Amino acid sequence: MKIINPFLQGPFEPLKNEYKIESAHVIGKIPAELKGTLYRTGSNVEYMMEDPNRFHWFDGDGMVHAFRLNDGEASYICRWVETEGLKVERKAGKQLYNGIYGRSEKPQIELPSDAPEIKTVAGINVIRLGERLLTMHEVENHYWELDPITLETIGKFDFNGGIKGMLTAHPHFDHLANEWLFCAFDNEARIVTSFTTDPDGNVISKYETRLGFSPWNHDLIFTENYFIYFFGMISFRPLSPDRIPQGKSAFFIDPDTGLDAKMLFINRKNGEAQWMEPENSPYIIGHFMNAYEENGEIIVDASITPLSGEINTFNPEDYYPFPFVPGPAAFKGPELWRLSFSLEDGKVETQRIGDFNAEFCRPNETVMGTKIRYGYVTTIHNPGPETRGFNSIAKHDYETGETQFQHLAYGYDMVPGEVIYVPHPQSESEDHGWIMNIWYDPRRNTSQMIIFDAQNFDGEPLARITLDHRIPLGFHGNWIEDKA
Ligand SMILES: [Fe+2]
Repeated sequence: MKIINPFLQGPFEPLKNEYKIESAHVIGKIPAELKGTLYRTGSNVEYMMEDPNRFHWFDGDGMVHAFRLNDGEASYICRWVETEGLKVERKAGKQLYNGIYGRSEKPQIELPSDAPEIKTVAGINVIRLGERLLTMHEVENHYWELDPITLETIGKFDFNGGIKGMLTAHPHFDHLANEWLFCAFDNEARIVTSFTTDPDGNVISKYETRLGFSPWNHDLIFTENYFIYFFGMISFRPLSPDRIPQGKSAFFIDPDTGLDAKMLFINRKNGEAQWMEPENSPYIIGHFMNAYEENGEIIVDASITPLSGEINTFNPEDYYPFPFVPGPAAFKGPELWRLSFSLEDGKVETQRIGDFNAEFCRPNETVMGTKIRYGYVTTIHNPGPETRGFNSIAKHDYETGETQFQHLAYGYDMVPGEVIYVPHPQSESEDHGWIMNIWYDPRRNTSQMIIFDAQNFDGEPLARITLDHRIPLGFHGNWIEDKA
């Protein structure tokens, strides 16, 4: 069978093996202050489905990559996250499960009696919660705890079982309030639970809000006083008997939900809910950059992905949500936008920021929830003829409106992943720190972890940690400092 699925080719091609490199090759100089580990997870696939052209990027098994830095040296390890579904498939020696996002068009085959009904993976994000290293998907009521050194899967973490629904893969830490913000969606009961915890993951407050629909929600954002959610036109019901068991995607369009966006603001102090609906808003928000309150307004910076035209259904041939690969796409390229909400009169204003495509927004997260000056994104900027997808990263200055781009090119386009900002331990300003991210080299079929000085964003990298293998283009990660 001819494989035409872009999620199995080039920068996306899944990695087949686990690797461990005690002493990785370093070009340049790793700053001596960097003692810790960059963890990043992504999608791989251990057992391919019968028709690989139906494989969806989001259904791949999670694999965590870890670059450990100490005294200017680097080591590297990557390992599969051993979820229950993966263990069931390993025992069978083959793929058994219908995907959550892709659609097989075939009824789910009979599973072993002790197997979970759907196979969830853990390939979206990695965080440290207290002493725990956690990796996660966004369709489970728990996260997976990993050994921070060996990346061995230790077991589940579920906040002592007190939370119902699908836990977000994008929790955020509010450095001013010293608390985490999480959410969980029960899309069968149509309820979102917004909750905060202390730095160790002990629940402090919890609010339930009834929704009139079953949204796909990927990220949340916060200000001093609010949890903020965005709901677009995509519905998501991975536990519906009518979808995955029938070979359909859990993503679908529910005509009752409509195409226009809905924003939900939950008061962090009392759980009160307020809805706002930007007019003419057929778009989705993949990731938020930041939000803050100013003069009675809530300002939300985010990556917006506009609908490209008429849409009735999602299927793997849409290659949703990545519009940069060949073939029909339901969405246009993502853009950086600012949405300003007046809580008093419900007015919403929208403004595009810059003229470049932008996704994977990350700021200096120690100032998230307040007015920030700098935002970092993965972008497309002056693409070459061979370029497919992202080819640069950008630092946007919200104060001056200027944007700097970094291409890291060898005379052709490399493919960058998410930008992760790492504050200097003695940080004196918002951009006093480093940029870390993983770039794929399409000509060598290998990847590098690059460290830049954030104040010299478009300059030469400080260090490149080069690998002889590919890290497939994936999702999110975080720098986790060693404890002093
Ligand atoms: Fe994400």
